Amino acid sequence: MPIIAPSLLSANYLNLAADCEMLNASEAEWFHLDVMDGKFVPNISFGPMIIEFIRKTTTRVCDVHLMIVEPERYAEAFKNAGADILTVHVEACTHLHRNIQQIKSLGMKAGVAVNPHTPLSLIEHVIGDIDLVCLMSVNPGFGGQSFIPETLRKISDLKKMIQEKNAPVLIEVDGGVSVHNASSIVQAGADVLVAGNAVFKSTDPIQTITALKKM
Ligand code: DX5
Ligand code: ZN
Repeated sequence: MPIIAPSLLSANYLNLAADCEMLNASEAEWFHLDVMDGKFVPNISFGPMIIEFIRKTTTRVCDVHLMIVEPERYAEAFKNAGADILTVHVEACTHLHRNIQQIKSLGMKAGVAVNPHTPLSLIEHVIGDIDLVCLMSVNPGFGGQSFIPETLRKISDLKKMIQEKNAPVLIEVDGGVSVHNASSIVQAGADVLVAGNAVFKSTDPIQTITALKKM
């Protein structure tokens, strides 16, 4: 069964506590937290301060997805805010290997996110050093976009790469995931499903999370 990681980008920030409570009552194991800087991606979301508040509401895994340039400047702040997993974009890191070592030395799990156009060969030589690959199935920056179908092939290619290297790396798929496409995503080899709009715009978010879990 996949791990479900609802993206709080689609939550209601005027009543965030209620959305966190809802997730705590659900089968979602992870909270996916999308940090955007207005430079790496066109949108701006939130930073360590909001994550610190969210951290206090839950014991679930805080999975922080950094869509920012120079993530090394903020890794420690996100650790202090309570991140369990810190994911950086391969496209934002000139010295990716160093970024990964920094995240691990701070005591967090390290993830690398890959944009839709980015070839998997760019992460081949660090696959043994990381805990998670976040495959973007939309262009990062906004919730509620459509899943890019080519991602399915990328998931199975990544699965093969991980198996060949015998590395214990989770495949997370992020963007446009819904109850309509989740089963093909899991079949292709995904371990973690991120879902923003599919969960928070649903009339019954808890039941939607259960449905995604059963894929
Ligand atoms: C996109 C973010 C995603 C997004 C997912 O830039 O990284 O996590 O919030 O939202 P949905 O599921 O609505 O595409
Ligand atoms: Zn994300």
